Amino acid sequence: MSRILELFSSLRELTSLDAILERILSEARELSGAEAGTVFLREGDRLGFSYVQNDRLSGVENLTERVYQSASLPIDGSSIAGYAALTGQTVTIEDAWAIPEGAPYHFNIDFDKRSGYRTRSILSLPVVNSRGKVVAVMQLINAAGPHGRPGPFTPEAADYAALLTHHAAAAIETGLMTREMVLRMVRMAELRDPSETGPHAQRVGAYAAEIYHALALARGAGSGVLKRTKDLLSVAAMLHDVGKVGIPDGILQKPGPLTPGERAIMCRHTWHGAALFRDPASELDVMAADIAAHHHQRFDGAGYPACKGPLLPQEYLDQPDQPDGSLAPLAGQDIPLAARIVGLADVYDALISRRVYKQAWPDDQARAHIARESGGHFDPEVVRAFFSLGGVVTAIRERFPDP
Ligand code: C2E
Ligand code: SIN
Ligand code: SIN
Ligand code: FE
Ligand code: FE
Repeated sequence: MSRILELFSSLRELTSLDAILERILSEARELSGAEAGTVFLREGDRLGFSYVQNDRLSGVENLTERVYQSASLPIDGSSIAGYAALTGQTVTIEDAWAIPEGAPYHFNIDFDKRSGYRTRSILSLPVVNSRGKVVAVMQLINAAGPHGRPGPFTPEAADYAALLTHHAAAAIETGLMTREMVLRMVRMAELRDPSETGPHAQRVGAYAAEIYHALALARGAGSGVLKRTKDLLSVAAMLHDVGKVGIPDGILQKPGPLTPGERAIMCRHTWHGAALFRDPASELDVMAADIAAHHHQRFDGAGYPACKGPLLPQEYLDQPDQPDGSLAPLAGQDIPLAARIVGLADVYDALISRRVYKQAWPDDQARAHIARESGGHFDPEVVRAFFSLGGVVTAIRERFPDP
């Protein structure tokens, strides 16, 4: 019970849905000794694979890529999780490969066949919200048994896991609500700038989180700091360009290159963005303000938010509540790490996407540009972390495609 109470207070400190699911699943697996587990979130009439952990397969298969896969299952008896969601009942299975003929659910053996993994015991728990609706399914696989081999889930393990999922529902709903609120802010920016889409924001959030993860591992950061920062960054990075709502449409949507005067106004989106988080109420606000202010600051000190000088039309500066150049330009390590990371993630995504003013670049040209700008536009440490991501970058692109 004290473990479960501790879990609930730690869940309250998490912001992103991924971090909340990761925490719940880790705890449920530890309580029940399960070797692997998946959280599925209900998405309309299907269940999406939303979080996957597997101790035996880590290293064998790239599980980070699987976190970003958008596979889903129907809510019916064609799978065990689908059946748990359909009926709201907990399903306990001793051997997934020996489900009796005539059972109301089926086990899909394809994943085991592809990965060489042997699924034996399964505990599939519906996560029900306060209005009685199934919002998710938590599925635990291969409870620890005697002699290091998987055994069945004990009734005690099933009881604890059920208690945990019962309380997890509220945390999952909070995570879903935060994500929706952030995406709504992004949609407001998108009303003005059609390139600032939900998928672009989600890709930048995911690239930034994974770049940070790789960088923190390379630095030998502790797992507590790593998880906490990755959690905040994945959400704060999505808000990097919401300040574009403060830029006139004629500039934002101009099909060709900007004049120097227009460019100077455009630069102010960093200031507008930072101003939205002026009175920070949380660590998330502080990070979002840093990112909005400095995501166009180059590592070599060029770039902005400064945008001072004669280019900015006086009538623009004369408007009330307009930026006065008070955001100091920074260089190198003085640029907040989160902004250095998002600076690269945003440019990579902008380069490989079409904009009103440019065509999409092929991926290899975008990567060549980033490599060439190491130490110029970009922090070399961030560039190294980006290039270490491998297939995760593609998995993220496929997870959040442009419509
Ligand atoms: P964005 O379109 O999201 O681009 C973000 C950043 O990606 C740019 O920041 C730039 O660093 C990089 N980037 C995008 N396309 C290219 C490219 O073709 N070549 C290179 N080398 N880098 C590229 P930047 O330049 O500070 O621009 C910030 C925002 O200003 C852009 O966001 C876009 O909304 C607007 N913008 C920039 N240039 C133009 C332009 O020529 N025409 C129009 N209409 N808008 C522009
Ligand atoms: C940090 O890790 O957040 C500070 C160090 C740096 O900015 O590189
Ligand atoms: C490229 O061909 O790699 C892009 C040119 C550039 O760096 O701007
Ligand atoms: Fe920007
Ligand atoms: Fe952007």
